[in-house]
Amino acid sequence: MTILLRSVLLYGEGDPVDVLVDDGQIAEIGQGLDAPEGADVVECDGKVLLPGFVDLHTHLREPGREYAEDIETGSAAAALGGFTAVFAMANTDPVADSAVVTDHVWHRGQEVGLVDVHPVGAVTVGLKGTQLTEMGLMAAGVGKVRMFSDDGLCVDDPLVMRRALEYASGIGVLIAQHAEEPRLTVDAVAHEGPNAARLGLTGWPRSAEESIVARDAILARDAGARVHICHASTAGTVELVRWAKEQGISITAEVTPHHLLLDDALLESYDGRNRVTPPLREASDAVALRQALADGVIDCVATDHAPHAEHEKMCEFAVARPGMLGLQTALSVVVETMVRSGLMTWRDVARVMSEAPAAIVGLPDQGRPLEVGEPANLVVVDPEATWTVTGAELASRSDNTPFEAMELPATVTLTLLRGKVTARDGQSPPAGWSAATGESAQ
Ligand code: DOR
Ligand code: ZN
Repeated sequence: MTILLRSVLLYGEGDPVDVLVDDGQIAEIGQGLDAPEGADVVECDGKVLLPGFVDLHTHLREPGREYAEDIETGSAAAALGGFTAVFAMANTDPVADSAVVTDHVWHRGQEVGLVDVHPVGAVTVGLKGTQLTEMGLMAAGVGKVRMFSDDGLCVDDPLVMRRALEYASGIGVLIAQHAEEPRLTVDAVAHEGPNAARLGLTGWPRSAEESIVARDAILARDAGARVHICHASTAGTVELVRWAKEQGISITAEVTPHHLLLDDALLESYDGRNRVTPPLREASDAVALRQALADGVIDCVATDHAPHAEHEKMCEFAVARPGMLGLQTALSVVVETMVRSGLMTWRDVARVMSEAPAAIVGLPDQGRPLEVGEPANLVVVDPEATWTVTGAELASRSDNTPFEAMELPATVTLTLLRGKVTARDGQSPPAGWSAATGESAQ
């Protein structure tokens, strides 16, 4: 398949150029390129070209809760959101705590072919927090697991976390922590603050997150290991990560789009769609998270895409399952909070949504420069477009977006995975789609 992208701005900068994609790679970049015979010529009219996005934190629910999402529907949502690789969290049923499950997730993702679905392995057997999984076997499997997490739950026992960090560092894989001290969050459903108090909702204090972030930074320091902090949600976490980096500790952190844009003023409605873990914090936390992402203290954006069925969300707030859709709205929320606000450029968007996450997990073929010879994992973005979010129209099997009815900037018009069109003009799979058969470069 040969594709000519006519008139794109690389990283949103400079003069428009044409980009020729052939044989899965960027074959040529220049002005006024001739279209080879039979090429698919895509008129891009000065839209922005970026490397395909990489999401370190996605819940695809397969195996076990396919009524809420599966690898096929989640992959379509990812492609429509501009992603070329996603990491599927381990809190499935059965839990992804063995190579049987992680290899299945990788295979199924390749069979669907819309995005590389990298399995995340569990840190502890059954996510029970006591016995380490055979991380080495999962890392050595077909799914080549690079990241391990009990996400949804915290590895709260400090000795188990210490051993996990030691084991992971020995085999060169990453531990990603859902930082939540469970003894501080019993029955908690919302950020502990004036809003939750007034509304009669049990509070989830910032200290539940920050105490684990501080502890894990110190454990990583002493183990000489790397640790990744999932969904940083407080200003205090930002300060702790900043401190740890200053000490030379190998720590990285992600922030979700919803923690960048939303805050706990939304609790007023008691709408279950606004329930998430960690909870939406105060506006001052969102401001600190935005600044930290711009400054590089927080390394990347990750969606924590967490589909839940209607009966699990449209109920009493305290009963609603925590989690929000994120794949198809991530870019727009980042543009709204970071680009429109002047905090970041498009080049920075490439850094936080593609280059940094690919580097954190060591993916060789993602987050690459827009240069000749590089793999054509690409996304074309219309920076001028706006759209109104409608949960029912998203590709996910679930509708639980907290951005319902919001008008957001920027749309993804084309996504290429190794030179193959995986989403086009809001459709994935695109017209004429035939799923890839073979393996991919992992
Ligand atoms: O809100 C959340 N939902 N946070 C998590 O950590 C897990 C996730 C889920 O699996 O639904
Ligand atoms: Zn989590």
